[in-house]
Amino acid sequence: MKRGIIITIDGPSGAGKGTLARAIAKRLGYSYLDTGAMYRAIALLIHRKNINIDNEKRLSEMLLQTHISFERDQNSNLRVFLNREDVTEEIRAPEISKLSSDVATKKVVRDYLRGMQRRIALKGNIVTEGRDMGTYVFPNADFKFYIDASLSERARRRRIQLKESGIKVSIEEVKSDIEGRDKQDKERLESPLHPAPDAVIIDTTNLTVDKAVEKIMKTIMEGHNLK
Ligand code: DC
Repeated sequence: MKRGIIITIDGPSGAGKGTLARAIAKRLGYSYLDTGAMYRAIALLIHRKNINIDNEKRLSEMLLQTHISFERDQNSNLRVFLNREDVTEEIRAPEISKLSSDVATKKVVRDYLRGMQRRIALKGNIVTEGRDMGTYVFPNADFKFYIDASLSERARRRRIQLKESGIKVSIEEVKSDIEGRDKQDKERLESPLHPAPDAVIIDTTNLTVDKAVEKIMKTIMEGHNLK
């Protein structure tokens, strides 16, 4: 089936994927898909319904009645809707971060979201961000990037983000949350986090956002395979 250009950006928490993916999408006029937000929305629903994530039958039933969508607000920020309710802020709560990593180990959830992500990508050119975009969801993507940074830098950035959304946590707490999620995301059986063999790896520890965007744009422009 014909599809548009797909650019994948994977990497661990706090490496700067979201900021970079949004910037690249804006530069190229492509749409942007935050797949972490999808796992977070599912985690929020599981939390609210108090579902045991080991109960696969319950999870499947829940997924059948779950609708996740995205909309842009007047400032062009993406808002996340769960069954038509705006959950953009709620899905960023620390307990939902942890639960989203747990939920992401479940095959039934990954299968459901992979299908959704592929359907969304059929609509046109897209920059898609997550953990398994270039490896398992879009192995034939046109451009693949893997963004990384040191643990302390990622924790520093994540803490600032959380503070901006009114959530105050110590640097130690953020570090331990990130470390725990990294381990689980990398070691799970289903679509674990690792760079695709053909991904360009960028370490953003000592890079400004502008420099990182330039690096990515240069790779894309030199690629000349923007069909
Ligand atoms: O990018 P994020 O922190 O919003 O993602 C939340 C969790 O969702 C993350 O710990 C792992 C999971 N996730 C995933 O397994 N696969 C993706 N493509 C995106 C996120």
